[in-house]
Amino acid sequence: MKRHITEEVQPMEQEREVATGENDGARKIGEVILDLQNISLSFGGVKALTDISFNVREHEIRAIIGPNGAGKSSMINVINGVYHPQKGNIVFRGEQRHSMHPSKVARQGIARTFQNIALFKGMTVLDNIMTGRNTKMHSSFLANAIWWGSARKEEILHRHKVEEVIDFLEIQHIRKTPVGRLPYGLQKRVELARALAAEPDMLLLDEPMAGMNVEEKQDMCRFILDVNEQFGTTIVLIEHDMGVVMDISDRVVVLDYGKKIGDGTPDEVMANPEVIKAYLGTSH
Ligand SMILES: Nc1ncnc2c1ncn2[C@@H]1O[C@H](COP(=O)(O)OP(=O)(O)OP(=O)(O)O)[C@@H](O)[C@H]1O
Ligand SMILES: [Mg+2]
Repeated sequence: MKRHITEEVQPMEQEREVATGENDGARKIGEVILDLQNISLSFGGVKALTDISFNVREHEIRAIIGPNGAGKSSMINVINGVYHPQKGNIVFRGEQRHSMHPSKVARQGIARTFQNIALFKGMTVLDNIMTGRNTKMHSSFLANAIWWGSARKEEILHRHKVEEVIDFLEIQHIRKTPVGRLPYGLQKRVELARALAAEPDMLLLDEPMAGMNVEEKQDMCRFILDVNEQFGTTIVLIEHDMGVVMDISDRVVVLDYGKKIGDGTPDEVMANPEVIKAYLGTSH
C-alpha cells in the first residue's frame, strides 16, 4: 500500500511506503490500542453520537470524517474525557471504562489540538509550547520557587525538549513572537507544537488544516506524516479536505448525523454508496 498526496494539495517528492506487517520501525501498524464500543452521547434532545463503534491501531493515521454537525468533535471529546457518553465502553490499552478522565488522559499519553485554536495569545510561541510540558513536570512548587538543583535540571530538560519540537516544526524564527501576532496557519502549527511537547503516543487533531491556504496545508500534511513516521505517534485526525484525508490516512471512519455510515481503508470508504450520498456529494 502506498500513500501519496494529491497533486493540488501536496506534490511529494517521493511516495511514502506504509508498513503493513513487515519491519518498518516506528511506522509498523500494531495492535488495537483504543476501542470505542457502542458509544452514545446526547445533549438534552440532541443525539450527538448514536451507538458508534470503531477502533484505533497503534501507529496508524485514523481519520474521522463527516459533514458539519456529524459528531466528529464530540467523538474526540469522548476520547479525551471532556464528554462522558451515556452509553458504551472505551477500552484504552486493554483497560475498559465507561468514560475517560480528562486529567488522566494527558498522563496516559494522549494529546490534542482544538478545532478553534486554544493558545495563550499574549504569550510567546516558546512559552505556549512550554505549557505542553506541564504533565511532565515533577519538581515541587517550592523547589521550583527557590530553584533547587532538581528543579533546575528539570527546567533544562523541558527547555531541551521544547527546542527539539521547535526545530522539528521549523518555527525557530517565531519562537519569541506573541502568538496573537502570528498568521492563522502558523498559530495552528504552534498548537501542534504544544501537543507534541507532551511527547504523546496518541495525537488527536481536530481539523488541523481548516482555514489554511494550499501551501500551509502542504506543510501541515508533511509534519503530520513526519510525526507519525519518525516518532510512531498514533494519529486520530478530523479533516474536511477529502484529498488530504484519502491520501494520508490508513483507515477512515465516516459519521453522519451522529451515526457511523462507513469504516475502512480510503478506497473502501470512497466506494461506499452511503458515504458518497451523505458526504462526498456535499460541498466539502
Ligand atoms: N457541548 C455541547 N452542547 C450541546 N450540543 C452540543 C455540544 N457539543 C456538540 N453538540 C451538538 O452535537 C452535534 C455534533 O456536534 P460536533 O461538534 O461533534 O460535530 P462536528 O462533526 O465536529 O461538526 P463540525 O464539522 O461543524 O465541526 C451537533 O448537533 C452539536 O450542536
Ligand atoms: Mg467539529
